Parts: sequence; C-alpha cells; structure tokens
Amino acid sequence: MPMNQCVILGTGSYAPPRVVTNEELAKTIDTSPEWIYTRSGIRERHLTSPGENTSDMAVHAARAALADAKLTPADIDLLVVATLTPDLPMPAVACQVQHKLGVPTHAACFDLNAACSGFIYALDTASAMIQSGRYKHALVIGAEKLSAIVDWSDRATCVLFGDGSGAVVLSRTTKPGFGIVGTKLGAYGDSTDLLCIPKGGSSCPATAASIAAGDHFLKMKGKEVFKLAVRAMDEAARDILEQHHVKADQIALVIPHQANVRIIEAVSQYLELPMDRFYVNLDRYGNTSSASVPIALDEARRGGRIKHGDLILLVAFGAGLTYGSALIRWN
Ligand code: UT7
Repeated sequence: MPMNQCVILGTGSYAPPRVVTNEELAKTIDTSPEWIYTRSGIRERHLTSPGENTSDMAVHAARAALADAKLTPADIDLLVVATLTPDLPMPAVACQVQHKLGVPTHAACFDLNAACSGFIYALDTASAMIQSGRYKHALVIGAEKLSAIVDWSDRATCVLFGDGSGAVVLSRTTKPGFGIVGTKLGAYGDSTDLLCIPKGGSSCPATAASIAAGDHFLKMKGKEVFKLAVRAMDEAARDILEQHHVKADQIALVIPHQANVRIIEAVSQYLELPMDRFYVNLDRYGNTSSASVPIALDEARRGGRIKHGDLILLVAFGAGLTYGSALIRWN
C-alpha cells in the first residue's frame, strides 16, 4: 500500500504576556545581565503568571495553528503534546487540551516526553501515524511551564529557561514532494544524570526531606551538556542530510533548539553553514524546551523567512540526552 505524504498545514505559538529581563533577575539572584547574555545569548524570557498552566498555553498555540490551517478542533483525530511539564503527573495533559479545545472524543490523545527534543519526536510519531493512512489531521504541540520545575535560587540554571508553547497541524497531502521528507531520532541513555530531576519519580517519591533538599527541581551539569549538545545536534543534522542526499547549503533555514546561542554557533561552524541560515530567537524566550522549535518555526514562517519549496531543517537535543532532526520541503 503506498504511504501518504504528510504536510504541515498550519503553525501557531504563544508566550505568556509577563516578560522578565536579565536586569530583573539580577535583582533577586547573584548574577549580572552581562553574564547571562554573554554565556547564553538570552536577554529576557516569558514566564506564566499564577493560574496559567501548560494546558492553557498549549490551547493558545493550537488555536492559532488551527486557524492558520483553516481547520477546526472537530477536524482533529490525533493530538500529541510534547512536554516534560504536564499540568499533573497523570493524566496526560493532551486529554486536558482535548477537552479545553473541543477536540472530539474519537481522537487519540497522548503526551510524549523527550525533553527539548520532544517536539521533533512528536512530529516523527504523528507524521508516521498520518502516513499510515489511519489518521487524517493531527495537532502536534510543544508546551512547557519550566518556571515550575526550575530552582529560582540556582543561578546556574534559572536564568536559562522560559515558558511558552508552539503547535503545528499535520495532514495528508495530494502534492507529492512536499512536507516531511524525513526524520532522525536518537538518544545517549548513558548520560541521563547530566540533566534531570533527581527525585519525585516512582523510584524515589517526593518526601519532606527531598523537597527540603530541592531534589524536585531541575539539575544540570551545564558544561557537559554543552559539549554533548554540540555533538548531538551536529550528528543529527549530518545524518539526515546524508540519508536524503542533501548538501548543507541546500537548506534554506535551520530551526535549531534554542538553548544557547554558542551551541548554535558551534553547529553552524561544524556544518559550514553561516549563522544567517539559523533562526535564533532565544534572546527573547530563553530555553522553552519542547516549545522552542515550534515557536521558532511559527515565528520564522510568519516573519517571511520560509517560502514555498524551501528545504527546512529542524534539529534539537535535550535531557536523556535525546536528539532529533527533521527535514521538511515547505508546501
Ligand atoms: O535544553 C538543554 C538545556 N541545557 C543547555 O543547553 C545548557 C548547556 N550549557 C550551557 O549553556 C552553559 O554551560 C551554561 C550557560 C549553563 C554555563 O556557561 P559556562 O560557560 O559553561 O559557565 P560555567 O558553568 O563554567 O560557569 C562559569 C562560572 C562559574 O564560576 P567559577 O566556578 O568560574 O568561579 C559559575 O559559578 O560562572 C558562574 N556562574 C554564574 N555567574 C553569574 C554560573 N551561573 C552564573 C550566573 N551568573 N547566572
């Protein structure tokens, strides 16, 4: 049976209205705006206000993507949310998003956690399900409330992260040659300790002592993550280009995970592709984990940086350490 081709019909994104600058952070923790900017490229981030949750942000991005695709929630039969910060440990936040959006009960709804590579993992999964012919229209969302898992007294991590959401609508296409050309996923499972939340899972449920020690917050070995991130992003990009016989300079725009501009600059050097082919918006958002790639994709498209026929490369890495890339011929 021939496989269906899968295209991105619409994109959307959302960031909470509250913007927190480096200057504001420097008033509450021992840091300086210059340190944050020169080490990471970040100037400010959006943070949720009390009462705003991952599901709410996911719904905003999803509505924008549906409007862009000229579809309604009733058209959706597959809903995947990539997140490491669901509203609750269970049930899946995808079910809360389904209910808030009004997606029909016959739709398949689930979460996927591959940390900052989550959106590309979800894109791979949902596009395969669309290509199988069993699903017609998918909503793929990356949404994160990282402000809830960051230790606001740990200057080495709290300055790097932000909240937000991005979404795409996937559909079958009748235009051969357009849409998701291919994806490549992988993980270095020997490096789980580099970026993790040490306690609160089933192996060590939260206790008063673990909470007092701050072990329910994100911990990161920044330098080690940096080195592995560059290697993983470079490999993920190279592998997919080779697999599809594409040269780096045929890529119109790379949408990389927005963690640190120095990581993106290193990948740009390794791929010998100039920085103006990389979309960078982390100065305004910080690292929004699985939301970073779809937010950047939506901004790039709405800002006129992506045209019909362009080859676009998505590439990300995250806790796990996971990595992933996706090659898209824009329709
Ligand atoms: O989505 C995946 C998420 N993670 C990442 O991608 C993170 C990857 N890693 C990085 O981006 C970088 O390693 C960081 C931005 C986290 C740190 O940059 P670095 O150049 O590796 O700095 P460092 O960790 O080696 O710290 C240098 C110094 C240390 O002081 P000493 O030991 O040299 O005296 C830190 O204590 O900077 C100090 N420092 C700070 N100073 C001011 C750490 N955080 C801060 C801070 N403000 N916020």
